[in-house]
Amino acid sequence: MYPLPEGCFAPRNQWYIAAWADEVRREPMERWILNEPVAFYRTEDGRAVALEGRCPHRHFPLGKSRLVGDNIECMYHGITFSPKGDCVRIPSQGMVPASCKVKAYPLVERWKWLWIWMGDPALADESLIPDHHEIGLTDPAFTVESGTYHAVPGRYMLMHDNLFDLTHLGFLHQTSIGAGDYSVVDEQRDNGDNWISSQREFPNIQCPPLYAQVFGYEGKVDRAFGMKLFLPSLHAGYDFLFKSRTDSDDPGAVLGKVRVYHAITPATKNTAHYFFAYGRTFKQDDDAFGKAMLASFNAVIEEDMLATREIEAMLTTLGTTPPEVLLKADATCVRGRRLFESLIRKEQAV
Ligand code: FES
Ligand SMILES: [Fe+2]
Repeated sequence: MYPLPEGCFAPRNQWYIAAWADEVRREPMERWILNEPVAFYRTEDGRAVALEGRCPHRHFPLGKSRLVGDNIECMYHGITFSPKGDCVRIPSQGMVPASCKVKAYPLVERWKWLWIWMGDPALADESLIPDHHEIGLTDPAFTVESGTYHAVPGRYMLMHDNLFDLTHLGFLHQTSIGAGDYSVVDEQRDNGDNWISSQREFPNIQCPPLYAQVFGYEGKVDRAFGMKLFLPSLHAGYDFLFKSRTDSDDPGAVLGKVRVYHAITPATKNTAHYFFAYGRTFKQDDDAFGKAMLASFNAVIEEDMLATREIEAMLTTLGTTPPEVLLKADATCVRGRRLFESLIRKEQAV
């Protein structure tokens, strides 16, 4: 499925961010992931559970059902499942058919996220989850603002395309964050089997207006900006600002550092989930400032939603996938798509 080749949707034997930990409570919650309905809830002792969210009797959504102790009871005819997905009760008969059960997905609570494994549970290795400390989430040097969720009105790969190609900043985000420079500065790329990174350096540029205000500094800066995608879900980025090494009173002094986290998870074939957080090294105790900056980022992400909604509508209405013109700036995008395709093909081969 575009932008991947026909027959390729998403890799399954991978960890995806399913929810913010505090979204999942005792009350069951339904969320579609990889085109499957999933029912989330917490047991009485607080453990998060993810079950296949479709009752095998008449397909009623379990995420819209009710809990009885640690078990979930289907709202329709009362069939009850344990946190392991076994059927523990059929009110209308004593005998439980072997087919009366639902899948239980491996679920890991790490930092403020719940990571889900939708594929073969035997392969769910927790050490494959990106190291949260390495990407700064638990680094005390950064104050992290989190908790943002956006429902993406388009297929998940459109969001990865968006994050792979930041030359859209100067155009789609012209009235918010701007940054036309992205279109002209060379990009350094690197990748492994399950990660891809891109970095840009902006030496000796005017301090961007937002930061000039925050740092009380109107001079020249060196700016380093990069993004790394840990396939298939989490883009971790950084935006570091230093006083210009060639034209300032204190060459190379750190003005401030920002880290951004964009987590994308396929929901249905044509929708996705987007979880956002950011960290900063400045105004760390200023809660109101931190929340306001989070709101600004979210307004920018809504502009990405606008582009995604329009492209999804265009493709869905056409019903075909016209060829696309590829540009030099699409190099990271093309490489990233190939990595997704290769993960999917490996699973198909097995
Ligand atoms: S649909 Fe769930 S018990 Fe009948
Ligand atoms: Fe964007």
